[in-house]
Amino acid sequence: MGHSVETVQQEVQQALTMPVLTPYKMGRFNLSHRMVMPPMTRQRSWNNIPQPHAAVYYSQRASKGGLIISEATVISEAARGYKDTPGIWSKEQVEAWKPIVDAVHAKGGIFFCQIWHVGRASTYEYQPNGQAPISSTSNELKPQLQANADEPAKFSPPRRLATDEIPQVVDQYRLAARNAMEAGKFLSPFKHHKLTDLL
Ligand SMILES: Cc1cc2nc3c(=O)[nH]c(=O)nc-3n(C[C@H](O)[C@H](O)[C@H](O)COP(=O)(O)O)c2cc1C
Repeated sequence: MGHSVETVQQEVQQALTMPVLTPYKMGRFNLSHRMVMPPMTRQRSWNNIPQPHAAVYYSQRASKGGLIISEATVISEAARGYKDTPGIWSKEQVEAWKPIVDAVHAKGGIFFCQIWHVGRASTYEYQPNGQAPISSTSNELKPQLQANADEPAKFSPPRRLATDEIPQVVDQYRLAARNAMEAGKFLSPFKHHKLTDLL
């Protein structure tokens, strides 16, 4: 026995009045509902270059007025700690992001970029010239169980940053944020003039 038209209409009406499906004003963004896709690392961006298949993946999850936050996206070579995570420090990466962001926008979605530095959650092999990962401390991270691996992740002993080195990392974040905007792109929670002031 199927549902009657009235029952279906009632159910639809009920669903539409569920708080999670009601609009939400987030700063200057008018979200049409409150289901947000959180950042989820995928490790499918070969050599840190976002791939065309990501356009399919993200657009499948996009909705008109819905917010998606990208998988964590590394700001520099030294910011890496996991294989094949996307980056946003080079021109090639910015160009690779463009069709992905366009695909989300084509569905009316709102797309933010999560910019990321892993700090000491890294190993020599991910670091330029096999250097020590940088951190606020020289204390090594204990091995951690990973959701996507049988073996716990192991980390190399980090090097504690000197105070005068911190602005370089801040600059890398600044460039990554600018690149994200150039990629289209990811809209920012700040008003444009404010963001420009900030950067
Ligand atoms: C496969 C996977 C990858 C994730 N990657 C990220 C990530 O890149 N950045 C981040 O901030 N959180 C990441 N998370 C955490 C999710 O954003 C988090 O699970 C989600 O916000 C829901 O919160 P909850 O797990 O506390 O319920 C990841 C979670 C999963 C399951």
